[in-house]
Amino acid sequence: MIETELYDLENDDFETSIAAAGKVIARGGTVVFPTETVYGLGADATNADAVAKIFKAKGRPGDNPLIVHVSDVAQVGALVKTVPEKAKKLAEAFWPGPLTLIMARSERVPDRVTAGLLTVAVRFPSHPAAKALIDAAGTPIAAPSANISGRPSPTKSNHVLEDMIGKVDAILIDADTEVGLESTVMDMTSEPPTMLRPGGVTVRQIEEIIGKIELSPNITENIIPEKAKSPGMKYKHYAPKGIMVIARGSDDEKVAKIISAIKGLGPDDMPAILATDETMRHYQRGLIVSLGSRDDPESMSHNLFARLRDFDAMGVTHIFAEEITMSDETMALNNRMYKAAGYTFI
Ligand code: TXA
Ligand code: MG
Repeated sequence: MIETELYDLENDDFETSIAAAGKVIARGGTVVFPTETVYGLGADATNADAVAKIFKAKGRPGDNPLIVHVSDVAQVGALVKTVPEKAKKLAEAFWPGPLTLIMARSERVPDRVTAGLLTVAVRFPSHPAAKALIDAAGTPIAAPSANISGRPSPTKSNHVLEDMIGKVDAILIDADTEVGLESTVMDMTSEPPTMLRPGGVTVRQIEEIIGKIELSPNITENIIPEKAKSPGMKYKHYAPKGIMVIARGSDDEKVAKIISAIKGLGPDDMPAILATDETMRHYQRGLIVSLGSRDDPESMSHNLFARLRDFDAMGVTHIFAEEITMSDETMALNNRMYKAAGYTFI
């Protein structure tokens, strides 16, 4: 167990907290910090020993590379060999923001960060505390999501406290994260560039800037890929403790399937239904929870991981989620829901 320093960014003095946390990073420690997507678990990206502590705290497999966070576009040059023209355009359009760009890496990035890959993932987050922390640390910060490996990513400070107290040197407590799903990951080393993970920036938004892109098969197919290009894709992700399935079909079919599945459960089972504002009223039995309104994909995305963690906390044994209609705006949400359900559909 490590003694974890806690700083409350909303109630303690912001500058003092950031300065203290920046020192923790600079001396090779680990700090959990808020970003606009999810909370991150950071360490000095140029210090291999510091980065090793991230893998240990999360229980993350060493072959799953990390994203390097910068607070200024000028820091990118030292991390990569070259910045491809299309990467420049995307950075101009969406940074700071929820977009990660994979480029050929420079010698300066330790193998520990990239899991030995010749590429590095770089992101410039828009959250003011993330930017201030990177500035205070005086170094780019390598950071995965601040959850224990396999659990839903943390979008609220209590998620972080649950997973990371005693495992990291400091935690910056802040408000709920805005986007609620992780950044979009784009491999800029292929032509056309390939989306490896959908996220806060959508396919349509990206194609408006650089034209046609490829989608990793993992996004388009409902199967767990045997050979994932993004090493993180092959692990079970976002898994709630209960068994989660996704109901497909028309609204009537979804409701009928879920009601019938719940009828088949035993007296000790505790089912939950993840519905929407529009469909909640169709159910009577089980814990009935709305993901949000179908008219508001951003708020459904914002809510997903918190709902899954709430189910865990309540001891839910079976989660029946209604499938959300696929669109440009719901692609990231569906991707995380499919993964949380281990691609199991009824
Ligand atoms: O929004 C986010 O991206 C958050 C916040 C904290 O910035 N971070 C995050 O990191 O979600 P993580 O480690 O949970 O997810 C990073 C994903 C993983 O799927 C990883 O395999 C992939 O990016 N990745 C990282 N470097 C890569 C590389 N060089 N090539 C291919 N995939 C890479
Ligand atoms: Mg993660």
